[in-house]
Amino acid sequence: MVMVAEKPIFPAHVKIVEMGPRDGLQNEKQPVSTEVKLDLVKRLIAAGEKHIEATAFVSPKWVPQMADHHEIMQGLKALDNSGDVMFPVLTPNLKGFEGALAGGAKEVAVFAAASESFSQKNINCSIAESLERFKPVIAAAKEQGILVRGYVSCVLGCPFEGEIAPEQVASVTKALYELGCYEISLGDTIGTGTPAKAQAMIKEVAKYVPINHLACHFHDTYGQALANLYACLELGVSTIDSSVAGIGGCPYAPGATGNVATEDVVYMLNGLGIETGIDLDKLVDAGVFISDALGRKPVSNAANALLSKRAVSLK
Ligand code: HMG
Ligand code: MG
Repeated sequence: MVMVAEKPIFPAHVKIVEMGPRDGLQNEKQPVSTEVKLDLVKRLIAAGEKHIEATAFVSPKWVPQMADHHEIMQGLKALDNSGDVMFPVLTPNLKGFEGALAGGAKEVAVFAAASESFSQKNINCSIAESLERFKPVIAAAKEQGILVRGYVSCVLGCPFEGEIAPEQVASVTKALYELGCYEISLGDTIGTGTPAKAQAMIKEVAKYVPINHLACHFHDTYGQALANLYACLELGVSTIDSSVAGIGGCPYAPGATGNVATEDVVYMLNGLGIETGIDLDKLVDAGVFISDALGRKPVSNAANALLSKRAVSLK
């Protein structure tokens, strides 16, 4: 008799880190108003999202869409002052950290890469230099009681170098963890990964960093992100970065599309009986709001299917 494999043990709860307002919008060529961005955040909170990356304290010359970071921080205070919702913001250096601190950030994120070429293109320095640059940021954050998240880009491939060895990903992730990042998000920046590759990468990284300190941040360029997430959930990953309506991309990753859509992730997790605390219907509404503002349809199969179902039931 052929036996099926034993059922994997999935986590009971998955933490979703919403990327829409930052990763989702940073690559938009048309300016999106601060008002629309804050309205999006308000709708994501209404849908039950508790971790929403709100903006980036990066150079406005490099990423003009994030130039309103100070105004966003002011606006967030009016949206949620309970401390119940975290709004991490990107801070590539001390200048960015000081801006985030002045704006009242309670969580910041530093971002490195597993590829030297991508590091140069994205933050204008080598991997080693970036880690040195993050040291004072992390020290200052610790002093202020601010949480620091870390990112590693290009964990399943680089737009300039191609294949990236899992050992290289593990080495940068370990360095960020040892510097004091409480969680490290592993970015398939260009969405070229496939499930076996994703598992091999996580297994290598988990030799050095406990799996409950890792997050998966998968862009969906090749339509593999959900399959890759499922493969990583099987290994025990319980934090997922995703973007409402599948919006986004990185200005320094040519050809890359948005993060996996939060609606698709929540739909899959609901089906697996994994709790997220997110109301899928309200999330779909938030996705329609931002897609309308950008003049396009949501890039989410689950959202579009649910919208078609709603349209039919209204007839
Ligand atoms: P640089 O040119 O090497 O910096 O850029 P610099 O220190 O030489 O300063 C040059 C100018 O920038 C100066 O102004 C500084 O004041 C200013 P000037 O004198 O020319 O007028 N500056 C800043 N302004 C505002 N905020 C700051 C800041 N720092 C310096 N923090 C830098 C280095 C890191 C600043 C630049 O390369 C940069 O801003 N890069 C950001 C690129 C970016 O945001 N990429 C997208 C996010 S990462 C991503 O999407 C991947 C991720 O989603 C995971 C995945 O998918 O893989 C996280
Ligand atoms: Mg990204």
